[in-house]
Amino acid sequence: MIKMSLNLIKYAKEVEERALDSYLHNTRVLRLSGIDLKDLEDVVKKVSIETWIHKEIVAGMLKAYQEALDRVVEVMRDVESITPTTIERAVLVKILKEHLQIEADMIETYKKLANELKYPVLKAIAEALARNEEEHHKMISDLIRKYEAM
Ligand SMILES: [Fe+2]
Ligand SMILES: [Fe+2]
Repeated sequence: MIKMSLNLIKYAKEVEERALDSYLHNTRVLRLSGIDLKDLEDVVKKVSIETWIHKEIVAGMLKAYQEALDRVVEVMRDVESITPTTIERAVLVKILKEHLQIEADMIETYKKLANELKYPVLKAIAEALARNEEEHHKMISDLIRKYEAM
């Protein structure tokens, strides 16, 4: 599954790069040959710009996925299950509440961003990030409640 995802992301990146080259090249060819069609030009312009966006997103996705694979090992090492002391719990709750604030800020920012963005794919990404941040917020809230109830 990991290898498949990685290969598909790499392939998508290649295809977007090729598509962009082709659109930019053909735009120049049409212009040089004096073919001036407004409807064609409008579509090619829109598709080119969105292809550019796809290319950058998929390049970022590749980097993010590769780094996530590298980091998951060090972050996910097994930790002993110990019961924190009262003082430790108070410290943990304080730290977690700060993170909760950060997550809340991110939820709000991504929602605002989703409303502002006009490119559909960027809007969808902002919405997905907002939903992901809501999950973070919930997980952290649950943990705070757990420590506070101990
Ligand atoms: Fe594309
Ligand atoms: Fe987050």
